[in-house]
Amino acid sequence: MALIDPILLKTRLGALAGRFDVDALDECDSTSSELMRRADHGAPAGTVIVADRQHAGRGRRGRSWLSSPEASLTFSLLWRFPGKAAALSGLSLAVGLGLAKALEKLGAVGVRLKWPNDVLLQSGHDFAKLAGILIELSGDRRGMQAIIGVGLNLAAPEADLPQPAAGLKQAGVLADRHEVLAVILGSLARVLDAFGAEGFVGLKSEWQGYHAWQDQSVQVLGDGAEPLLGNCLGVDDDGSLLLATARGVERIFSGDVSLRRA
Ligand code: BTN
Repeated sequence: MALIDPILLKTRLGALAGRFDVDALDECDSTSSELMRRADHGAPAGTVIVADRQHAGRGRRGRSWLSSPEASLTFSLLWRFPGKAAALSGLSLAVGLGLAKALEKLGAVGVRLKWPNDVLLQSGHDFAKLAGILIELSGDRRGMQAIIGVGLNLAAPEADLPQPAAGLKQAGVLADRHEVLAVILGSLARVLDAFGAEGFVGLKSEWQGYHAWQDQSVQVLGDGAEPLLGNCLGVDDDGSLLLATARGVERIFSGDVSLRRA
């Protein structure tokens, strides 16, 4: 029996229930892969696949994503936008903002964002990953399609991971997973509507309010390239990261980098 009951979720979504079509699976390869297949067969925007187990969960940069049914919430949401890919710069930051706002609404304390789209939990000077986001885009002459995959730790993972990880319980959230998913979907709908209307620019200052390393020294590691050291100035209107380096202000567009505190 799946851990999410779509009927119960509908009641929690209230007035927003009509904007989502949720399917809860016991198991699949990856909620994003499953949603991509359904999108190819015409699934509407607002389709959500939530699964207890993924046997081929995918993370950013080709990594795999491990989750356990009791301790994680893993789902993917299909959204569509008019226009071309260029209009979607900053989308991953917008999704991170939607998640951060939802978690705060649920009572989480210490939620921060790391460019481009990790959701962190801050405790003193330490940061641990609370949620990861994987956005996969495709387009045709009608516009762009985004498969927005979210993996949220409800409890701190027991696996030995390359970076510290935290769970929602540590952030002080006691809500059940239906409430958590309903509040997240509601928040994502609001942020994605705003993003669709005016792009990232209207969300930038709110994003920066959550930025973990605003005005701090960071290093940006790209595949094979020399690490880039600088002071993190925040993000620009298009979602690119602004870094004050010895060579002047550098703008980083690619999400295919990893950002560390220096
Ligand atoms: C990251 O590497 O930080 C992003 C992780 C995204 C994982 C989620 S879990 C739900 C969805 N399905 C997947 O296969 N990946 C995303």
